[in-house]
Amino acid sequence: MSVEARRREYLKALEIDVYTMRESNAEAEPADNSAGEQDDGSPLDWDALRRVVSNCTRCQLHQGRTQTVFGVGSQSADWMIIGEAPGAEEDRRGEPFVGRAGKLLDEMLRAVNLSRDTVFIANILKCRPPNNRDPSAEEMASCRSYLARQIELISPKIILAVGRIAAQHLLETDAPLGSLRGKKHQLVDGQVPVIVTYHPAYLLRSPTQKRKAWQDLCFARQVMDQQVL
Ligand code: URA
Repeated sequence: MSVEARRREYLKALEIDVYTMRESNAEAEPADNSAGEQDDGSPLDWDALRRVVSNCTRCQLHQGRTQTVFGVGSQSADWMIIGEAPGAEEDRRGEPFVGRAGKLLDEMLRAVNLSRDTVFIANILKCRPPNNRDPSAEEMASCRSYLARQIELISPKIILAVGRIAAQHLLETDAPLGSLRGKKHQLVDGQVPVIVTYHPAYLLRSPTQKRKAWQDLCFARQVMDQQVL
């Protein structure tokens, strides 16, 4: 049981009412290496995690956001798709990959018989960096435990990392994206296979690379099929 939960038990036994400013604020200040815990000391469940993320002030990005972008899709998805960070449109709508790059991602998923509803799509960062700049190391570190808990709760059979930033952060490497493609990686702190491909925003700028992205998706499908055998 957490210290806070024990304190509340004592106060309740003494018939002293406990007031908190806002339940979500009480949850929003866990150590950065953990997404936080519930009153009984257990790890956050899906709803509590969503609440904690939506109130997060761990890094300065909270100051400029319209809202956090938690992720979208099935909580029991076999596939998790992980991108970099919300852009302007995602910040406005509260959903990842809803701009032009998102439309292309939808098409890429459809090509391997997947859809937005059957996978889970999330980002390394839950808040939009200003002017679409790259996330900083500190911002990614602040957000890491939220994504880690999402992965734990969903327990996907495969992760598709889209783009260099997502791939390097998940795999804790500085290797260039080109050298990470075409291999079955393992999450550093888990057993889930990770396949790396290009970011759809890059593919919009360099459409001749779409063929390689198609190869990556076919490879991911193969790895996934081996997982379920
Ligand atoms: N790019 C990303 O990496 N994620 C989004 O949600 C949108 C654009």
